[in-house]
Amino acid sequence: MRETWVVGAATNRFGKMAETGREAASRVALAAIDSAGLEPKDIEQTFVSNAFGVAERQAHVGPLINTALGIPEVPSVTIESACSSSSAALHEAFVHVAGGFADAALVVGVEKLSHLDTFASTSYFAMGADYAFESRNGATFPGLYATLASAYRREHGSRPEEFGAVAVKNHANAAMNPNAHFQRPITLDTYLGSPIIASPLRLYDCCPFSDGASAIVVAARERLPRPAAEPLVIRASARAGSVADMHDRETLTGLPATRAAGLKAFRMAKVEPAQIDFLEVHDCFTVAEIMALEDLGFFPKGHAGRATVDGVTAHDGRLPVNPSGGLKAKGHPVSATGAAQVVEIFEQFNGHAGGRQVPKTGLALAHNVGATGGSCSVHIFGRR
Ligand SMILES: CC(C)(COP(=O)(O)OP(=O)(O)OC[C@H]1O[C@@H](n2cnc3c(N)ncnc32)[C@H](O)[C@@H]1OP(=O)(O)O)[C@@H](O)C(=O)NCCC(=O)NCCS
Repeated sequence: MRETWVVGAATNRFGKMAETGREAASRVALAAIDSAGLEPKDIEQTFVSNAFGVAERQAHVGPLINTALGIPEVPSVTIESACSSSSAALHEAFVHVAGGFADAALVVGVEKLSHLDTFASTSYFAMGADYAFESRNGATFPGLYATLASAYRREHGSRPEEFGAVAVKNHANAAMNPNAHFQRPITLDTYLGSPIIASPLRLYDCCPFSDGASAIVVAARERLPRPAAEPLVIRASARAGSVADMHDRETLTGLPATRAAGLKAFRMAKVEPAQIDFLEVHDCFTVAEIMALEDLGFFPKGHAGRATVDGVTAHDGRLPVNPSGGLKAKGHPVSATGAAQVVEIFEQFNGHAGGRQVPKTGLALAHNVGATGGSCSVHIFGRR
């Protein structure tokens, strides 16, 4: 395998986009290519993720993006893996570049659903669960993650304040991120006073519905030995799956796919969790961040909530987690989320994260989950 880098990255402000998905994706893709010091003609393959394009009556968006970039002859493919779509696309780009099938590849994730109401968006998203057993019987993502949260609280006796600490931290980080959906810090009282969405989850336990687009450029070191910005060396690109429907799982207090993808990634990068300086993890609901930190081996089971209360995972703590604000507060435009995690790591490595800059940026990890854990990607990035 060739040494493979992330050499460019860009995102837009998450929230409500005035542009169409394809317009936003094309604009952000160009910004990512530009940040790499490349031109669109340097791209040899485009990997797009856009799980809910049909909500805009638009599938097959890759050729439209490439045409807008002036490279209609470049092949594109759309990768769907629910909320982990763009990290799955990054994995495919890595495989292409590391394997020598392309010298430079573009990854673009985009989603736009803000023209739909909450009921319609919830129904679209539920298509990522098991329709026969879950969605058709009324299960929604807040409901499914509430089941995980109840099981977690019962098994570990954790208090609501531990989930609340995740929300308070991630909203505080997002308040320092000009591209975040929510840019106002919240207090624990705001969290505790917010309405129940799906017991025990409150409003501030949930990520919002966001529009957004993010893009990254992946290149072989030999193709671009002197990139315009400090590159991210892809030390590991690992994916794993698990039983999709929750009723067939052996545990509801962790995600088997996270554990499997994490183990693969640490093995591939030849590093231990203790060597990672900061992480972006999949916190679609607060319990998801807590479970991810435990499944990836950063804390023993039942301990990540307490560590969050103690400030260990704050942006200036011992192990910063979701300095971007995470899905919880930066926002979660499904197919743009995995790529956006990498944009944050790129900005952190280049010292461009402003007030949310973390103290150490030697090694970083990105963790991105599809649905309730049917799929998961873990990437580890290091320096040259
Ligand atoms: C939590 C949820 C149900 C709230 O939807 P809603 O009740 O229709 O809320 P609205 O869109 O009417 O917004 C009401 C207010 O709450 C705010 N808000 C909405 N969702 C929010 C969230 N997740 N966190 C914080 N604030 C939120 C809005 O900004 C708005 O504030 P304002 O009155 O100051 O403008 C919805 O955001 C949701 O379902 N989130 C989960 C999405 C999901 O499942 N993603 C997939 C994960 S796997």
